[in-house]
Amino acid sequence: MGSVYRAYHAQLDRTGAVKVMHAISPDRDSIARFRHEAQAIARMRHPNILNVFDFGEFEGTPYMIVEFVPGGNLAGRMNNGLLPWGTVMRFLHGIAAGLDYAHAQGIVHRDVKPANVLLEKDETLVLADFGLAKLLQGSSLQSLTGVTTGTPAYMAPEQVTGHEVGPAADRYSLATIAYEMLTGSIPFEGQGVIELLYAHVHSEPARPSSLNPQLNEKVDAVILRGLAKEPGSRWATCEQFVNALGKALGATATAGIERTIAMAPAPAPVAAAADRTVAMAPAVQETESLFAPPPSTVPPPVWGPAVAAKRRRRLYEIVAGAVILILLLVIGGICAAADLQPTMSLDPTIAVPGDTVDVIASRLPADQFGQIQLHSDETLYFTFQAGGQGDFRQGIVIPSAVTTGIHMVKVCWAGSCPLQKQLRIVAPETVSNPTSSAGASPSPSGSGKPGATTTPGRSPQPGSSPGPNPTSSSPSPKPSPKPSPKPTPRPSPTPTTNPCPTSASAASLNASPNTVLLVGGTVTITGTHFTPNKSVTITYYKGSTPVSTKTLTVACDGSFSTTVNAPGAVLPRTDHVTATDTAGRTASATISIV
Ligand SMILES: Nc1ncnc2c1ncn2[C@@H]1O[C@H](COP(=O)(O)OP(=O)(O)OP(=O)(O)O)[C@@H](O)[C@H]1O
Ligand SMILES: [Mg+2]
Repeated sequence: MGSVYRAYHAQLDRTGAVKVMHAISPDRDSIARFRHEAQAIARMRHPNILNVFDFGEFEGTPYMIVEFVPGGNLAGRMNNGLLPWGTVMRFLHGIAAGLDYAHAQGIVHRDVKPANVLLEKDETLVLADFGLAKLLQGSSLQSLTGVTTGTPAYMAPEQVTGHEVGPAADRYSLATIAYEMLTGSIPFEGQGVIELLYAHVHSEPARPSSLNPQLNEKVDAVILRGLAKEPGSRWATCEQFVNALGKALGATATAGIERTIAMAPAPAPVAAAADRTVAMAPAVQETESLFAPPPSTVPPPVWGPAVAAKRRRRLYEIVAGAVILILLLVIGGICAAADLQPTMSLDPTIAVPGDTVDVIASRLPADQFGQIQLHSDETLYFTFQAGGQGDFRQGIVIPSAVTTGIHMVKVCWAGSCPLQKQLRIVAPETVSNPTSSAGASPSPSGSGKPGATTTPGRSPQPGSSPGPNPTSSSPSPKPSPKPSPKPTPRPSPTPTTNPCPTSASAASLNASPNTVLLVGGTVTITGTHFTPNKSVTITYYKGSTPVSTKTLTVACDGSFSTTVNAPGAVLPRTDHVTATDTAGRTASATISIV
């Protein structure tokens, strides 16, 4: 939302920081509003809130002069891996104290994120950019209804949907930071901004303990309440949330020790029997046992040898029974989990360049967005969205220029690619086609489904009849001696004119609409005058960064059409889409995000 400069005040011999807010339009209303808001922000005095020294505007561009905080920001600290829980709690308490204070003054931050949490040299946390998101929203963007500002990864659902934003939105962002600090990832590791924003509103985040096994269900409950979709269901204050989290983490630490004792192998020495008996008892007693005096101070057993032996036997039985029970539970759990694991398959598993292969997946999270990746000569990306039952079937077009061999198809969502299958690409001439009708030329659009009746040579499942499908590693480039008993003379293809001539005009690309609101949207991309029957790769550039790629086959008339997702933005931006076919024809189009 602006630029930050380190500045030196010569008269006061003091270093400060100047934040220049380019995104606020210099109309009179905006400037007045900026002044009003800045005064409220500057009135706050709290050790965890950045001090504002001055504000004003220069040639219509507003700026703020604020305290300079030398220790970098929390985002930088979190980049080096998970922080110790003690540090996490200290940091969360600092942020919580600053936020609760501001909320008591009637001020909402609206853009709580690690980059806006600065660190003093002594590691005191200082919250920066208070209320600036609102200044932005209220000025240059005010004419657009439903537009919201903030940072997508940390945005509360009500902020995403443009509803009224109050302190609960900051608390949601704080819970997101806590989630990230304890698991190493944000709740919704979406592939793009749109997926992320959608997930904030509609999806349930993974339980933190599923990402970091050191956490337990108490921690899950505290954080997931912090991330409740409904603002009223979240914690009432930031401190309440952080205190509850501290307690849950404390419980986790104790539970961890208890589990270690309970899972210990069967006892051998009799001297430890009292401890082990306690370890098998309910949790409260186990905890007490950890702080009980050492075994030497425990009064010696008063039973005779026969009683002691009997008791020992019982102990062995109990412990052995418990171990078996635990094993059964673990095995049962694994089986149950395996049953619920997402699955994928390809149809067909052997294809020729230009074919369409269906990627079929099930048991994904409901309505999940994600990517299909084809790891080929280069990696190609296709987006998918699972249905309400968590399954999808989507065709991907294999580029016609792809090399033969084994290629990997991966299904990815939420930052990882848990599903993958091998796809074997074979050269068209290696596929025997005994029944194809004479003169049937390869489908120009490449859309014919392999495995369908027209191309029986491609349909066999791997392993069923390897004979007619020589692999790419076959030493002979052409399996010349065809097994066909009757070498029926091919009806000679009449050398007529090319039915799909390449246009003499230059390739061109059109984006419709070419202006998209900041929330993002879908844009239809149409190409004309590309090389017929060639693969064309369409790349979406968010600013100058490529964010998605898909590959299609150009139709016989040199055209193609597809849709792309224009990712949302906090600030206006100019994006580009380029299309390049394998014969080298290329064109681009511009999309304005406003
Ligand atoms: N008062 C300050 N003292 C020292 N460094 C600061 C100060 N304010 C911001 N910075 C640093 O300047 C950089 C840019 O901050 P800026 O607020 O412009 O970007 P951001 O927080 O990443 O994104 P946004 O513009 O959405 O707030 C960050 O690395 C931040 O840590
Ligand atoms: Mg900032």
